[in-house]
Amino acid sequence: MMKDDIEKVVFTEEEIKKRVEEMGAEISRDYADVPEGLFCVGILKGAAIFYTDLVRKISLPVQFDFMIASSYGDAMESSGTVQILKDLDYDIKGKHVVLVEDIIDSGTTMHYLLDYIRLRKAASVKICAFLSKPSRRKVEVPIDYCGFDVPDEFLVGYGLDYAEKYRNLPYIGVLKKEVYS
Ligand code: IMP
Ligand code: MG
Repeated sequence: MMKDDIEKVVFTEEEIKKRVEEMGAEISRDYADVPEGLFCVGILKGAAIFYTDLVRKISLPVQFDFMIASSYGDAMESSGTVQILKDLDYDIKGKHVVLVEDIIDSGTTMHYLLDYIRLRKAASVKICAFLSKPSRRKVEVPIDYCGFDVPDEFLVGYGLDYAEKYRNLPYIGVLKKEVYS
């Protein structure tokens, strides 16, 4: 069973739901004077579950788009170089973009994507990350909406994987060391 590989639960399903609701409400307030709504870019695959939960808590129109960026492979450390494996489907010029990410670790991926989006002349760009590991940062990233700061532990569940496994766990937990060592 997947749960046998989990050392401890960090955020329960209920805690996640509550925080996502708060984040959706905050975003809805901040963009209340933008009648055309937001252009939310989900960073696949990790942010898929957070993205679909979050957009349903936003009371403004949301246009969907997704990108796939790779800096990891199956390794547990960012390689430091970012590759775009799937680009935006739409022109974001003049759009109010919110980049939706599962977790910001070294910051490498988001730093790169932020520059990339800015170059495409969006009207505004904000970053929404469910989790952040500030102690791991190598590049500064301005997180406008952050679910929780977490310590330097390898987490899985709620979209987060280890070697493509555990994404569908409904809670977030620390993976047992023996699973990856
Ligand atoms: P960064 O470029 O180092 O900030 O890496 C961000 C990406 O690394 C995230 O989108 C995740 O896919 C992955 N990542 C970072 N920390 C974890 C973790 O604890 N568990 C699972 N994936 C992680
Ligand atoms: Mg990711």
